[in-house]
This record gives sequence, C-alpha cells and structure tokens, in this order.
Amino acid sequence: MITLREWRQRQQQLHPELASELDWLVRAVTGWDTLMLKWGDRPGSEFISQLEHLWQRYLQTREPVQYLVGRVNWRDMELQVAPGVLIPRPETELLVDMAAEWAGRWGLTNGQWADLGTGSGAIALGLLRVLPEIHMHGVDCSATALTIAQANAQRLGLSNRLTLHQGNWFEPLAHLQGQLQGVVSNPPYIPTPLLATLPPEVQHEPRLALDGGTDGLVHLRHLVQTAPFYLRPGGLWCVETMSGQTGAVVDLLKRQGGYQDIHTLDDWGGHDRFVLARWGG
Ligand SMILES: C[S@@+](CC[C@H](N)C(=O)[O-])C[C@H]1O[C@@H](n2cnc3c(N)ncnc32)[C@H](O)[C@@H]1O
Repeated sequence: MITLREWRQRQQQLHPELASELDWLVRAVTGWDTLMLKWGDRPGSEFISQLEHLWQRYLQTREPVQYLVGRVNWRDMELQVAPGVLIPRPETELLVDMAAEWAGRWGLTNGQWADLGTGSGAIALGLLRVLPEIHMHGVDCSATALTIAQANAQRLGLSNRLTLHQGNWFEPLAHLQGQLQGVVSNPPYIPTPLLATLPPEVQHEPRLALDGGTDGLVHLRHLVQTAPFYLRPGGLWCVETMSGQTGAVVDLLKRQGGYQDIHTLDDWGGHDRFVLARWGG
C-alpha cells in the first residue's frame, strides 16, 4: 500500500501547476500541517481513498477544493462554505484588522455595526470576535449565503450578536438610520468584462458575489452614497476593493463631501485593496 507522501508526490508530478490546491486538500482532509506532511513518520494511507475521490472530482470539474470539503479556515475560525456563497479570501482578513484598529482609535467599539454583502458571515463574525461589545447586522440579497452565515454564527456561538437581513445593501436597515457605529463591506467589485477571464475555480462561485458592473465600481459607488444616511456622526466606513480601485473610491468619498480621515491599506502583496473613512456628519 502506498503512503500518503508517495500519493501526494505522484499527484504533484502529474499536476505541478495545481500544487497549492493539492496541498490545501491534503491538509484539510488529514488535519496535518506542512511539517507533518513533509517529515512526519505516519504513513497516512487511511486518507488516500477519500483524497483520491475528492482530487479526481476537482481535476474533472475544477470546483474549488473548499466547496468539495465544505469548509475553510479563516482567521481563527473554521467556516462552512458551499456553492452559492463566496469562499472568503485570506486578504479579506486584513479588513477586519483595519476596521477593528480604527474603531479602537475612534472609540467605536460598541453599538450597532453592519456588514453589507455578508456572504458566509466571515467579516461580521471576525469583527464580533475582536470587538466583543458590538452587535452586528449582516445583510445579503442571497438566501443561500444567509443560511450559511447563520450556520457559521451558530457554530461559533455568536448568533445572539448577529442579526441577518435579506435585501439590497442598506434597505433592510431602515430602522437603524443614523445609528450605525461602523459599516464594513467586501462588495462585488470585478468589472463585468473581466469575469470571463477568471480562473475556472472562480467560475463556480456566485456571479452575484463578483460582478461589480461595467467599471467594477457600481456597488462601491452606492455604498459611498448611501452610508451617510445610516452612520452616526463619527462612524466608520470600510471596504475592500480590487487592486487599482482605491484611488477611485477615495475620489468618490472626497467628492461626497462629508467623509473625513480617509485611509487606504495594501494587502500582504503590496496591492492597494482597502479604503477606510469616517463620516463627519
Ligand atoms: C464579494 S462577496 C463577499 C462575501 C463575504 N463578505 C466575504 O468577504 O467573503 C459579496 C457579497 O455581496 C452580496 N451581494 C451582491 N449584491 C448585493 C446587494 N445588492 N445587496 C446585498 N448583498 C449583495 C453577494 O451575495 C455576496 O455574498
């Protein structure tokens, strides 16, 4: 019987361009870390039939390995994911750090917050864990996403601090006008013409979660324009963008006139990805 290490090496040789997906799948199925995989002395043969099944399915469909396994590790949480919800990306973890850091500086670490386009609930749940005195409202127009966000909140014991709403951006939050301490969002921002060029794995993710309209800025523009009706004076506004879009978002905020303290942040690769501001009131 072959060992797990031999099986992995064979697949690496056959598909060198898919090494990171292979490693992700092996780590997710075995629970082993990279050191254990490379140098551990356990044969791991008991995992091979399950891995072979999932790996062959991945090779045939290019369905994201996270969907095949049904979960992803994100920050210090394990989140359920499934077709119909965006797989939270590692760089989005920085949005949580950025929002929490500035919330601390500006004294916004309590009260009502909103995560617009909450998807799996990743950002909302990440912020609930680092800001233990806030209550979060997660909005999404996708019922599938909200079902998964609810399951994630329940598993993490956070459902009493997360209220989920189905609807279009701020519309379900009419009762919170002028009351939000913070608004965060990772909206769809990919320009429509680019969607067809995305890797095959991304084509399995909901178009609704990706499509940012002709120039990619349709939803970001809407969030700049509507947030002032919902934020308290001094409230925080923070979004993720595609690299190359932060300048346009900063311009939109400046043109709106009432935002102050505008900051941008790069991801770990040095790409501009996040914009944060404070509503002046
Ligand atoms: C890029 S995904 C972000 C998901 C999650 N927040 C994350 O970071 O992993 C964008 C989300 O916005 C939702 N969405 C798209 N259009 C929307 C709208 N008009 N109103 C509310 N949510 C919307 C999508 O269903 C999707 O869940």
